[in-house]
This record gives sequence, C-alpha cells and structure tokens, in this order.
Amino acid sequence: MSVDLRVVTDESAVAQAAADVVAGVIRVRPEAVIGFPTGVTPVRLYAELAARVARGELDCSRVTAVALDEYLGVAPSDPRSFADFLRRHVLEPLGISGARAALLDGTPAPDDVLVGRCLAHERAILEAGGVELQIVGIGRNGHLGFNEPGTPFRSRTRVTALAAATRVVNALEFAPDPVPMAALTQGLATIEEARTILLVATGDAKAAAVAAAFAGPVEVSCPASVLQRHADVRAVLDGAAASLWAPLADAATGYPA
Ligand code: PGA
Repeated sequence: MSVDLRVVTDESAVAQAAADVVAGVIRVRPEAVIGFPTGVTPVRLYAELAARVARGELDCSRVTAVALDEYLGVAPSDPRSFADFLRRHVLEPLGISGARAALLDGTPAPDDVLVGRCLAHERAILEAGGVELQIVGIGRNGHLGFNEPGTPFRSRTRVTALAAATRVVNALEFAPDPVPMAALTQGLATIEEARTILLVATGDAKAAAVAAAFAGPVEVSCPASVLQRHADVRAVLDGAAASLWAPLADAATGYPA
C-alpha cells in the first residue's frame, strides 16, 4: 500500500489540502482527465478550486471531467442528479466545457440501453487516455462511488443496487420522494485504474470506514479497502475522520498539520 496521508484540523483545511493535490496534477498536466465525485464532502473542495480559478491561479479549461456515479431514474436535467451537481459545482465554476465532460445519464431506460451507457463511459475513459486523478469520498459503509459492500474488486461501470444504509443517508436529498433503488457507477476496477486516487473524508461518521479501508483486511465487505492495492493514493482527512485509524488516533488533531 502506498498512501500519502494528510490529516488536518478541519473541513476548510481539508478542502485546501485536497485542492493542492488537484491543482498540482493540473499544473503538471493541464489536459488531465479527472474523475469528480458528488456528495457533501467535495463541495468545499470544488469551491476552493473555483476560487483559485476565479483568482487566475488555476486554469482548468483543458481538463476532461469524468463522472464517478449517478442515480438511476433521475434525468440529467433533474436538480437531484449528479450530472446537474457536477455542472453546478465543477464544470461551470471551473470553466470546463460540456464537450470535455463524460457524465453518466440516469434517465430510466431498458436494460440494454443502460448497459450501453455504462460501456460508453468505460470507452470514454479509455479514449481520453485513462483517468489521471480520481477523487473519491467514502461512504459510512465503506462504499466507493456506489460500489456497496460485497461488490467484486473486478467490477466495471454498471448498474447496481443501492445499499439500504446508503438510501437512508441520502433520504433528505429526495424527500418526500423515495431515494432511487439503483445507480450507475464506475466499478472498483475502473476506479483502481486511475493513476492517482485522492480520497477526501471528514467527520466522525466516516472514522470507522476510513479505518476499515486503510487498516482492515482487503476484502469486499469494505469496498474502499481496494485502495490498499493501489500504488498512489492520497488521503486528506480531518482529525475526526482519522480518529479510529489506530496509529493516528492519538495524533488525530493536526497530524502532520
Ligand atoms: P458524502 O458522500 O460526501 O456526501 O458523505 C460520500 C460517499 O457516500 O461516497
């Protein structure tokens, strides 16, 4: 395992440190292919990147953006779709044109059409030359993207059922409607092929998943444990998210600062 770990004091320091990683990749390769997740955690990171773009410190205009996952049954025009989230938080503020974005389309469709969309996503990644940097959050149950516990490590982009726990965590986004039962997601093998993976996590609710991912056995019960097999993982955590990762627990506030 090769994890370059930063544990910092709070969410805003996490956003800064994670933005430094993203900006570093773009500085070396302005045309980098970057995988962007959705969720609460990356919002501050995206705001920090947008601020750097607005100040003229960072140019993302040649970046290609790749989606990590999408709800099934939610059209890209729906404000609850991840496609819409990525347009609002990533593409528009970072100045990445839609032509440079490989999003996933969660509009309901027959199975063969959905399989076609998943294959097209894998093809888009390949044709772009592979993902240089895949940013990921982590679910409380250890999921990566929507690869829930039990997902084989060899999985590719596909339609998959959401875990009950994930649907509970995301219930507010959809209330009063029910959370979709399924999603399209990059597979664990797809994620693992990225040259660098940046995991960002904050808060107590992620502590057990972070500890299982990096210090537990590498097994499908914790999908994020697949990261232990990867040669270049950067993890940016706050003290709370790092607090159950045994060697760090004592130093979790501010190590290495
Ligand atoms: P969150 O989601 O950033 O909203 O906590 C992370 C995830 O479930 O992967």
